[in-house]
Amino acid sequence: MILVANWKMNLGVGESEKLARDVVRGLKSSRARNSEILHSVQDDRKRAVILCPSFPALDRVARVLRSTNVALGAQDAFWQSSGAFTGEVSARELKELGCKFVIIGHSERRALGETDNIVNKKLHAALAAGLTPILCVGEPLSVRRTGRQVSYVQKQLKAALKGLRRPRLMVAYEPIWAISTSKSATESPAAAEAMARIIHAVIPGTAVIYGGSVNPANAAAFLKTPGIQGALVGGASLNIKKFLAIVRA
Ligand code: PGA
Repeated sequence: MILVANWKMNLGVGESEKLARDVVRGLKSSRARNSEILHSVQDDRKRAVILCPSFPALDRVARVLRSTNVALGAQDAFWQSSGAFTGEVSARELKELGCKFVIIGHSERRALGETDNIVNKKLHAALAAGLTPILCVGEPLSVRRTGRQVSYVQKQLKAALKGLRRPRLMVAYEPIWAISTSKSATESPAAAEAMARIIHAVIPGTAVIYGGSVNPANAAAFLKTPGIQGALVGGASLNIKKFLAIVRA
């Protein structure tokens, strides 16, 4: 089971460091022993908890997570490894800071103009730097209403994976209509199961996780959904009690 906390741009640096400490402390005292929490998604025996703070907080959170079994991830990475790209951050730097994972192609980034082609270039760069990408895909409500979500997600996947042979990554299915809404509880487990089948048909053997308003009340339903190996949690990951409840679900 993989639990990814996407803190987005919600926390300050000090707040991120404190929340990371709370997560580490909470997991130590939970039923999930630290030894059960794995860094590697390919090692699918038990569980992995991955915290994704914003860039400025990565170093401080990395220090908190050092010698624990909670892994560090970033929320994005640029596709070039260095150069004159003002404001961008390379996958190489993220690796240097201790990241093992990086979210690529989140719908909130796509909404800011990130295209399938950019997502593809970022995947190449992340993999070349030795990071495990968490590739986000998912359809907007307008697409689901017309029933074209399967071809939409297949197209996103194929474009993202262009030129990559058997990439070591995980895929987060995040239907945009379920992110930061209350829609997920009733509609999404079935949607997630159906889409996990589609994703596995395109990338056999990859870990598929679900994202979109996962909370303590609905986490168990998602985590036992066939084909779903974990969750990408936004809002509820900012609250230590809620996040630990999801980890224990
Ligand atoms: P949410 O966000 O859990 O707040 O819906 C999930 C995500 O956007 O990754």
